[in-house]
Amino acid sequence: MEATNAQLDAAAVGDLVLLDPLTEESLLQTLQERFRRSHIYTYIGDVVISVNPYRPLPIYTPEKVQEYRNCNFFAVTPHIYAIADDAYRSLRDRDRDQCILITGESGAGKTEASKLVMSYVAAVCSKGEEVDKVKEQLLQSNPVLEAFGNAKTVRNDNSSRFGKYMDVEFDFKGEPLGGVISNYLLEKSRIVRHVKGERNFHIFYQLLAGGSVQLLQQLKLRQDCRHYGYLNRESSGLPGVDDAANFRAMQDAMRVIGFSPAEVTALLEVTAVVLKLGNVQLSSSHRASGMEACSIAEPQELQEICDLIGLDPGTLERALCSRTVKARDETVLTTLSVPQGYYGRDALAKNIYSRLFDWLVNRINTSIQVKPGKQRKVMGVLDIYGFEIFQDNGFEQFIINYCNEKLQQIFILMTLKEQQEEYVREGIRWTPVEFFDNSIICDLIENSKCGVLAMLDEECLRPGVVNEDTFLAKLDQLFAGHKHYESKETQSARRVMDASLPPRCFRIHHYAGKVTYNVTGFIEKNNDLLFRDLSQAMWAARHALLRSLFPEGDPQKNPNYIRCIKPNETKAAMLFTPELVLAQVRYLGLMENVRVRRAGYAFRQLYGPFLERYKMLSPRTWPRWAGSERQGAEVLLAELAFPPEELAFGHTKIFICSPCTLFDLERRRQERVAELATLIQKIFRGWRCRTRYQLMRKSQIIISAWFRGHMQKNKYKRLKRSALTLQAYARGWQSRRLLRELKLQSRRRAAAATIAAYWRGYQVRRTYRRYFRSEASTRLANFIYRQLVQKFLLGLGRNLPPLSVMDRTWPPAPYKFLADANQELRSIFYRWKCKRYREQLTPQRRALLRAKLCASELFKDKKTLYSKSLQEPFRGEYLGLTQNPKYQKLHAVAKDKLVMADTVRKVNRASGKTVPRLLLLTTEHLVLADPKAAQPKTVLSLSDIHSVSVTRFSDGFLALHLKETSTGGAKGDFLLISDHLIELVTRLHQTLMDATAQALSLHITDQFSTRFQKGNVAVTVVESAKAGSDVPVCKKRGSHKMEVLVH
Ligand SMILES: Nc1ncnc2c1ncn2[C@@H]1O[C@H](COP(=O)(O)OP(=O)(O)OP(=O)(O)O)[C@@H](O)[C@H]1O
Ligand SMILES: [Mg+2]
Repeated sequence: MEATNAQLDAAAVGDLVLLDPLTEESLLQTLQERFRRSHIYTYIGDVVISVNPYRPLPIYTPEKVQEYRNCNFFAVTPHIYAIADDAYRSLRDRDRDQCILITGESGAGKTEASKLVMSYVAAVCSKGEEVDKVKEQLLQSNPVLEAFGNAKTVRNDNSSRFGKYMDVEFDFKGEPLGGVISNYLLEKSRIVRHVKGERNFHIFYQLLAGGSVQLLQQLKLRQDCRHYGYLNRESSGLPGVDDAANFRAMQDAMRVIGFSPAEVTALLEVTAVVLKLGNVQLSSSHRASGMEACSIAEPQELQEICDLIGLDPGTLERALCSRTVKARDETVLTTLSVPQGYYGRDALAKNIYSRLFDWLVNRINTSIQVKPGKQRKVMGVLDIYGFEIFQDNGFEQFIINYCNEKLQQIFILMTLKEQQEEYVREGIRWTPVEFFDNSIICDLIENSKCGVLAMLDEECLRPGVVNEDTFLAKLDQLFAGHKHYESKETQSARRVMDASLPPRCFRIHHYAGKVTYNVTGFIEKNNDLLFRDLSQAMWAARHALLRSLFPEGDPQKNPNYIRCIKPNETKAAMLFTPELVLAQVRYLGLMENVRVRRAGYAFRQLYGPFLERYKMLSPRTWPRWAGSERQGAEVLLAELAFPPEELAFGHTKIFICSPCTLFDLERRRQERVAELATLIQKIFRGWRCRTRYQLMRKSQIIISAWFRGHMQKNKYKRLKRSALTLQAYARGWQSRRLLRELKLQSRRRAAAATIAAYWRGYQVRRTYRRYFRSEASTRLANFIYRQLVQKFLLGLGRNLPPLSVMDRTWPPAPYKFLADANQELRSIFYRWKCKRYREQLTPQRRALLRAKLCASELFKDKKTLYSKSLQEPFRGEYLGLTQNPKYQKLHAVAKDKLVMADTVRKVNRASGKTVPRLLLLTTEHLVLADPKAAQPKTVLSLSDIHSVSVTRFSDGFLALHLKETSTGGAKGDFLLISDHLIELVTRLHQTLMDATAQALSLHITDQFSTRFQKGNVAVTVVESAKAGSDVPVCKKRGSHKMEVLVH
């Protein structure tokens, strides 16, 4: 409603296309009236004209953002938000990259407009932690770039001194992903020089005003601006601008973007270095050679700079005051004059700053750049510095104005020229609208063969004397007849007297006015060379950031135009100077713009995309059109019944005259899309519910099938178990009954059989009683006995015990009546085993066993020594008579009759002490010999031996009693101790038996009497611990008593 009112308000129409009558005055009046009413935005079709109000207006509130969100461009009051919204939606919904071109003079409000566009887009796109961070980073790049790239000029307190093109990148949902900033043409000269009333870049003032005492100390700076040469040694605070607050805001912004504290410090250090370079003073000195030279006047500042960047002051001083020149292969060091020195110093400062600025932009880009691989759509915002005309315009202004000229050309091309050409191309009836085409000016400047820039490059490269005058002369010669070029030379050629055009200047008639450029400095600035020495000196600095500074627009995008107009020259709020605005209206070509717009068509599109976009509006074209695209569009529009004058059908494109029609078309489309979306939603939801239902049903059937199955299985199991139980009971019952029956039957049968047996027995006995014999029972009994005995004997024969003599096992008798016979058989069997054993013995073995047997008879259970001797075999020969030659004589004595040869101990009859003796027993003699001499000492005939006495104990003591008649034993009985006593006595016994058929008389006793030569001695055997284990000890007790201690 408001929009319609605005459009119908004849005095201040919102869209200049509706202006009636269309004259320069009416257009100006409309702008003025709207400006008075604070309506600073006006449309020409889809181009927005913005007049700078120079005061804050309450039209950028969040409510306003909501109002313009998803609005229709032509349905709301003109606003920069409307164009921003249109561009954003076109990007998001139509997938078209956008660029927003903002033009206007310096101070017309371009930078503000670009920020408004950005903030609007940031406000309307979706929210989220990540997205908000990206948005914040993109927005916060402005304060940082403005601090370093903006400055106060005569025209604008916050004039952009660089061109900026910012690409904001979005994903398919329209959420910002990041961006890229490109910067152009920083006005470097401002670093070292600016006119009175202007300022250097904001950052210097901000740093001095806002930096803490500590920071300034660290950077070796003083707070007072008047101290610094590059700040013109004047205190230049700006009314209404708080540099200190801006410095803090800039620092916050850097933090948000992601600068590390170290990076911020490094940045400020380099800034401080630039500022301090301006204070490096040079003084002239003369060399001995008479050559002029310069030197550092006051080393303090230089020292501080070098401290900051970590460089040897000598290196910097040398670089500032001298220069190496390469001549052929030699390098020569030449001194510099004072002006040359200052020139070098300023060049260094400019260069450092411009590289620092490039680094800053790159650093911001690193933070906001989008990760590769994401598909993105782009919205570019171009904000360059505006067209400028100064009293004295240098190289910078020339470049700036060329830029603006180029932008104007693009505008003209897109909005005026191309549109009209397109109408003709498409065969639409069209009366051409006249307009000024600035291509001729652009060509004058940029022509690659003979443009001003090409000439400048050529002059810079040309050998020989090169200066600005030769360059100007060349231009004069080339453009003598050019309509848009003037200089003193060409004027005088045309005989024009013009005092406003001084010498060494040329003038170009730009689209926005005539600008006189002074050629001084053109060559040098185009070269823009930094002395190599200075560059190398900087590279030698240890300061990392400083070191790194010294390493040695898309036509596919849909353009949106914002044309800024400056209402007055004094930055005064709400002051509208018609002449100034009229001039801008003229050079911006707004009148032509309106005319083309009025006569032309607001919208054009290829039939294909048009049909694709709107085909849903007619049932004939929806969902598919079979014919040609043009026919489709015709059918579609005929169906929609738009007035025929609204439409024009070109060869390839459809043209729609008024935006209202397009708006209507778009509205219908939106409604239809909503309907279709509902339809799709409906069908999709139906389908989803159906599939879900079918799935559920299928699941339900499966579940119930499984459940029923499970139930039935359980039921079946229960039934089966019951049936089995019943069956078991029934069968059990049946079986028990049967069993009872069978038992009864068997008892009956048994009873019957018993009865029958008795009966038969009785009958048989009765029948056969007379035939029975009286001894039948005895016979039967014998028969049975025989059977049993036979079985027993046969069984015994089969299971005879082992034949070993030691084995006394024998099976027990199976029946009691066989016990005696079994015992008998056992002893027979044993004797038989012994006989067999004996028969297989050798004669030696038999003799040995016999001797053993004899020993047993003599000693068993009588002398303790016997049990010990059982294990020892009777070897007989213990001396080795045959082998040992020493015993040769003894051997001769014994000859073949030797029974036993052994060593014995003979007890001295007087003292009881013992001496060793050899004892030989032959079949006839008993010989005692001295072991040393090995000769018989005593030879006793066996018949001399009367008896032998031994003890009960386990000793080897024996008394050999001789007959009183014997000849051999003159000294009387012998008391001997033998290690083989048992064997000795046994063999003696046997030999005696063989020789005399008389048994040896053996006494085993504890007390006996011996007969010695000196009389009888009573020997008493005493058990004592003093004796050795085997060897008895004989003690004489008086002359007739002797004690034998045994163990
Ligand atoms: N929409 C606006 N509302 C209020 N004030 C505005 C608006 N646009 C611009 N201004 C004022 O005008 C001043 C200059 O605007 P801006 O810096 O955008 O100009 P510019 O066209 O970028 O100039 P330059 O080419 O020198 O950079 C701003 O500092 C601000 O005070
Ligand atoms: Mg600006």
